[in-house]
Amino acid sequence: MKTKSFADLVRENRSRRRFYQDVSIELETLKELVGLARLTPSARNQQPLKYILSNTAEKNAKIFSCLSWALDIKGWGGPAEGERPSAYIIILSDTEIAKTMGCDHGIAAQTIMLGAVEKGLGGCIMALVKKEQLRELLAIPGRYEILLVLALGKPKEQVIIEPLGKSGDIKYWRDSLGLHHVPKRALDDIIIG
Ligand SMILES: Cc1cc2nc3c(=O)[nH]c(=O)nc-3n(C[C@H](O)[C@H](O)[C@H](O)COP(=O)(O)O)c2cc1C
Repeated sequence: MKTKSFADLVRENRSRRRFYQDVSIELETLKELVGLARLTPSARNQQPLKYILSNTAEKNAKIFSCLSWALDIKGWGGPAEGERPSAYIIILSDTEIAKTMGCDHGIAAQTIMLGAVEKGLGGCIMALVKKEQLRELLAIPGRYEILLVLALGKPKEQVIIEPLGKSGDIKYWRDSLGLHHVPKRALDDIIIG
């Protein structure tokens, strides 16, 4: 099998929201991905991030109930049963290690997602999370601040990156064939000097 270049991984690492739910992800795979996040940079090297792993139907259902999916796709309440993520990694901050967070969790999240893509998986970084509900459902102790939920699975949906239209709208959209379109700003528009 041809090894993917780093650029390939970045391009392929789109937010995916529909999956082959029957393709399970081993706990060992989730641990490998957190093993990559363990090596990422951390402000003052404090390493306050902690993780909760989920790959069972019962725990997955609890996490799913706390998520908001693709708000810009009106009338879609998220993936239907059968197309839901087969695993999750919840990123938390241990407030007994650090009271304030830099961007450690963003770096960790992207590293995990790239690692997932390399394994033929995919998913979505999710910040719109009902955090108190999730804390209660998983009995997460108060010292851990919930930062992000990473949804993971074998992607079922195709994502197309395209330039912004004339109107400059950045909203992603889904066409009649179910293809997910994501407008990205042009390179010349983001390098300002
Ligand atoms: C910090 C962060 C939080 C996000 N939260 C959500 C979320 O709660 N729900 C969701 O469906 N997508 C979420 N996304 C995914 C974005 O909508 C997605 O990155 C954007 O539409 C661009 O698509 P792309 O990732 O394929 O480039 C989040 C992305 C980031 C980086």
